[in-house]
Amino acid sequence: RAMKLCVIAGDGIGREVVPQALRVLQALLPALQVVEAEAGWDTFCQQGTALPAATLAAARDCGAVIFGAVSSPAHKVAGYRSPIVQLRRELGCHANLRPTLSLPGCGADGIDLLIVRENTEDLYIGEEQSDGDTATAIKRITRAASQRVAQSAYQLALAEGRQRLTIVHKANILPLTDGLFRDVARQVAAAYPQLQVDELLVDTAALKLAQAPQAFDVLLAPNLYGDILSDLAAAFGGGLGVAASLNLGEHAAIAEPVHGSAPDIAGQGIANPVASLLSLAMLLRHWWQQPALAARLEQAVRATLAAGTRTPDLGGSASTAAYCDAVIGRL
Ligand code: NAI
Ligand code: MG
Repeated sequence: RAMKLCVIAGDGIGREVVPQALRVLQALLPALQVVEAEAGWDTFCQQGTALPAATLAAARDCGAVIFGAVSSPAHKVAGYRSPIVQLRRELGCHANLRPTLSLPGCGADGIDLLIVRENTEDLYIGEEQSDGDTATAIKRITRAASQRVAQSAYQLALAEGRQRLTIVHKANILPLTDGLFRDVARQVAAAYPQLQVDELLVDTAALKLAQAPQAFDVLLAPNLYGDILSDLAAAFGGGLGVAASLNLGEHAAIAEPVHGSAPDIAGQGIANPVASLLSLAMLLRHWWQQPALAARLEQAVRATLAAGTRTPDLGGSASTAAYCDAVIGRL
């Protein structure tokens, strides 16, 4: 795969964390080719679209993308569509990977779990109807999408040296939709005898996750449950400043810190770049197939935190740039 990265910083702190994290990546990969592109609210105000065609073309061409964060209007604005939702769909990123791991001095100890969330269907297809008194939303689950995300989840679990995968569903109440997801995930599991595969009802999964997040390894879930459980899991990590994700497809991958544009701290140079750095490490591992480089980056991020260099959200006083300088020093 081409060592080419489409960089979409976006709005607010996206413009601070992404360039700094990129500096770290370039220290690791001096030959990396970088293509900058625009998206977000400022772009919408200037060009009338939050995701210009040129940005989409650059993202498609590169395959690998880092997407910082964008601001969305609090009220409905005609013509505005969320650029990240559109980008995930246009690039066919069918799996959303949301890891939660214990980092030195933040969050709970002993957690290293990965939630793999189906990224294209379920209740998120937006097919809703209402006559004013009765409102209905369609929950669509397909064999093809379930198969694709299950395959990705098992392959990722093996690539990361993980042992156990838990399928999350509510097939007791939704035997046709969630039942299909569960059955397909079970069928695909047969090709991966190295992995221990079990299943949990989503409510039980939430309870167990809240009680003992350390007990989980990989969770595979349809879109809605994956969205909710991954935010629950993130509560045990070090907060939004460190929560990383990767949107993965066959032709593209988008590294995406989970946080937004953080207008309350934007412009001060103090946003935490760890979420972006760990998202780039996922891109290294899962898209560019560079597990050794990914591990080096992750270790440098951890060692820097352990040494007490951290941004204010984690109780430190380092700036975004100073933290990244320290990581580069450790690389
Ligand atoms: P937010 O994630 O931007 O901020 C929530 C809180 O976490 C704030 O107090 C912020 O200072 C803090 N925070 C977030 N990231 C941080 C970091 N890297 N370092 C230190 N502190 C950090 O969520 P909020 O305030 O609800 O939304 C702000 C804007 O971002 C809105 O316009 C929203 O629509 C947009 N948004 C965009 C997302 C995306 O681009 N994927 C995701 C979530 C929100
Ligand atoms: Mg969410």
